[in-house]
Amino acid sequence: MIPRRALPLLFAAVCAAIASESPAPSAALPVTVIRAGRLIDSASGKVLTNQVIVVEGDHIKSVGPDDGGPIVLGPNGGRYVDLSDATVLPGLIDCHTHITSQPENYYTDIFRKSPIDVATTSHIYARRTLLAGFTTVRDVGAGEYTDIALKRAIDGGKVAGPRILPSAHTVGATGGHVDLTGFSPSIQFKDTSGVADGVDAVRFRVRQNIKFGAEWIKVAATAGVLSEEESVGAPQYSEQEMRMAVEEAAMWGKKVAAHAHGTEGIKRAIRAGVASVEHASFIDDEGIRLAKERGTWLVMDIYNDDYILAEFTRMGYPEKIIEKERLVGRTQRENFQKAHRAGVKMAYGTDAGVYPHGWNGKQFRHMVQWGMTPMEAIQAATVNAAELLHQSGRLGTVAAGAFADLIAVKSDPLADVTALEKIEFVMKGGEVFKDQIAGSPVKVFE
Ligand code: ARG
Repeated sequence: MIPRRALPLLFAAVCAAIASESPAPSAALPVTVIRAGRLIDSASGKVLTNQVIVVEGDHIKSVGPDDGGPIVLGPNGGRYVDLSDATVLPGLIDCHTHITSQPENYYTDIFRKSPIDVATTSHIYARRTLLAGFTTVRDVGAGEYTDIALKRAIDGGKVAGPRILPSAHTVGATGGHVDLTGFSPSIQFKDTSGVADGVDAVRFRVRQNIKFGAEWIKVAATAGVLSEEESVGAPQYSEQEMRMAVEEAAMWGKKVAAHAHGTEGIKRAIRAGVASVEHASFIDDEGIRLAKERGTWLVMDIYNDDYILAEFTRMGYPEKIIEKERLVGRTQRENFQKAHRAGVKMAYGTDAGVYPHGWNGKQFRHMVQWGMTPMEAIQAATVNAAELLHQSGRLGTVAAGAFADLIAVKSDPLADVTALEKIEFVMKGGEVFKDQIAGSPVKVFE
């Protein structure tokens, strides 16, 4: 049933959808008309009130003020979603996930699970991510191309999940963050891995990832926290090795994201031309200046620390790993504030998969606590993330021509950003996956 008061706007909107620039009305495409009480316009940073959004197929056809009109439905009917008491935003984007898995126990995860175990459970995490309002993720590292298989299942309409930009195996040095370190030299896995030493080996790994479907290349520029090598900040690649990754990726039309906690490795990665530095924990003034100069994005996962310190000892992680996290946590947050103040480009990225998928929205609160306005934090997860991912105009915005990826909450996230931890309406590509506001039927998987 369409509420009567909605009919004028439905008519206006359906007419608008039909009177499009295309000469033949695309009769086959389903039309959804959404009334948004408040719409967060991520591009302008403004809030628009009483807007009508017309969705045709998987795209947004038009967005404009509700100006009423005669009570006649369009010839093909249409679905109406009443979000007139809610705040509508573009679907959120997480630029740093590991969507295929999440930790349960340090040794069990490493020694008892095969990539097939990972593959058979990854759809659960994909669904949780989508229902949390994250309609797109850049996935920065997964084993055995499980990210690419998951993406295929989602894009094929077989399982619920976000749009995924996968990067397959993280490319990194022997003994470094992506290698299996800390165990007996006799232990070897048969899996494919991203370990590569020297420019030729790096080139090979980049090509191999792209061959099997990677859309981004991830390199480990420095040591990490959740791996057993001795230091968290030590450089693990030369500038030349990373420059090779950047040049080779560019040859295939791809860009590079660099995992880098350490001061020197961050600078090497920026000089080598990566598009984004992940974590950026120990970035110094020179690193901040370089990032500004080069337009390099920082993707800083500043919620992670809380979860690692609270849960990872229980999950059997060695004390040396917990100790590394203690070194990183607060400094990373202080440097987030510093980099933001300096005007470095920042996109939202959480490292979800270190903590439970579906909790991706918990970082907003921290970004606001460490200096961003709620609008800036939302922009980091929408327009800015879309810019980093080269999807401006297609993702991260509610505007004509963009994918119909929309979310909504009843309250006002600009007054309390934690509203984004409980998203109540999710549409991806014109299909409703969750609606606790207007009660629309949701997509069913047969
Ligand atoms: N994946 C990252 C690593 O192992 C997690 C770092 C999390 N800590 C943090 N404070 N952001 O290095």
